[in-house]
Amino acid sequence: MTITNLVVRADTLVVTWADDSTTSFPTIWLRDNCPAGLHPQTHERLLDLLALPALPVLISAQIEGGNVVLSYNDGHVSQMPVALLDAHRPGQRAQDAAAIAPQLWRADMTAATVPRHAAAPIMLDDQALTAWMYETAKFGIAIVDHLEDQTSAGVDVAKRIGFLRETNFGTTFEVINKPDPNNLAYTSVALPLHTDLPNQEVPPGYQFLHCLANEATGGGSLFADGFAMAEDLRIETPEAFRLLCEVPIPFRFHDRDADIRVHEPVITLNNAGEVIEIRFNAHLAGIFDMPSAIMPDYYRAYRAFMAKTRDRKYRLTLKLKGGEMVVFDNRRVLHGRDSFDPSTGFRHLHGCYVDRGEYASRLRLLARNVGIETVA
Ligand code: OGA
Ligand code: ZN
Repeated sequence: MTITNLVVRADTLVVTWADDSTTSFPTIWLRDNCPAGLHPQTHERLLDLLALPALPVLISAQIEGGNVVLSYNDGHVSQMPVALLDAHRPGQRAQDAAAIAPQLWRADMTAATVPRHAAAPIMLDDQALTAWMYETAKFGIAIVDHLEDQTSAGVDVAKRIGFLRETNFGTTFEVINKPDPNNLAYTSVALPLHTDLPNQEVPPGYQFLHCLANEATGGGSLFADGFAMAEDLRIETPEAFRLLCEVPIPFRFHDRDADIRVHEPVITLNNAGEVIEIRFNAHLAGIFDMPSAIMPDYYRAYRAFMAKTRDRKYRLTLKLKGGEMVVFDNRRVLHGRDSFDPSTGFRHLHGCYVDRGEYASRLRLLARNVGIETVA
């Protein structure tokens, strides 16, 4: 947007924009973000903030081409791009191609409507990669299909996004019925809805479960949007919602080689009060240790959330077929499976994770090159 007026105050520049809105830029901010303070190649800040006066004094401002030229009383002159001022108005978040608003779903999401994308275009074409990643971020889940029948095929799709998240289960993991399992996933029992590894300081972000075989009786998948369950709880029982946000509980995984624990709440909010993470795993929840005075209320709240994980109103069910891979935000969407009978056929999923940070970075790079508006 163009600038129609500039007012210089000693400690502030007041900008009037073409739509008549105004923005105040404190002079300390203007000096801190003077482009001359950045390294010319890396664009990292070299300027030492403490070398500036606490309140730099502005003496004049004028528009020259695409810049606002600012002169200070210590002789410094800044060329501030109008576009920079426009994009970084104080009090307003800068645009971010990776900031995709979640679209919540309940049982309206079905096996027939869950987003589906074919593997080959994702591998070959940035436009297809962008469209798939955008939808997966929005709904927190999508299926990639027509994968080749080899364990590397799903991993290759995940690596189109970024590097894999290594955990105590390895960089990739085989979900098969194993002798001497260290995890219920490696048995044939049912897994109720859960998030993976809530016992980690930062639980893995996006999870990839590539189905190579699902021939046994049973073994269907279930999913639920944890953000939708949390938002409904916020409205139905605000006190339960508050306790799940505020009271940390222990999560623990331990076997021969690891003992990984955290204390974290079930629901995490950002500073704006929006739900950004769910940790829920009945098998990995440790021994509750909140004060006994709040324990009955906490159990009531925890059971209210748990009851939602059993409620069909929130449930997406499907049975993965060989060549399909389900991809979901493990910090939002809960997943589970029905038990299966290993004597009736082979079931084999190959899994890996890519963290949210890598995912967001890839989306920003794609937006730079492909243009996110093509999918928004
Ligand atoms: C897991 C898991 C689901 C399945 O491995 O964490 O939840 O369908 N597996 O086996
Ligand atoms: Zn799991």
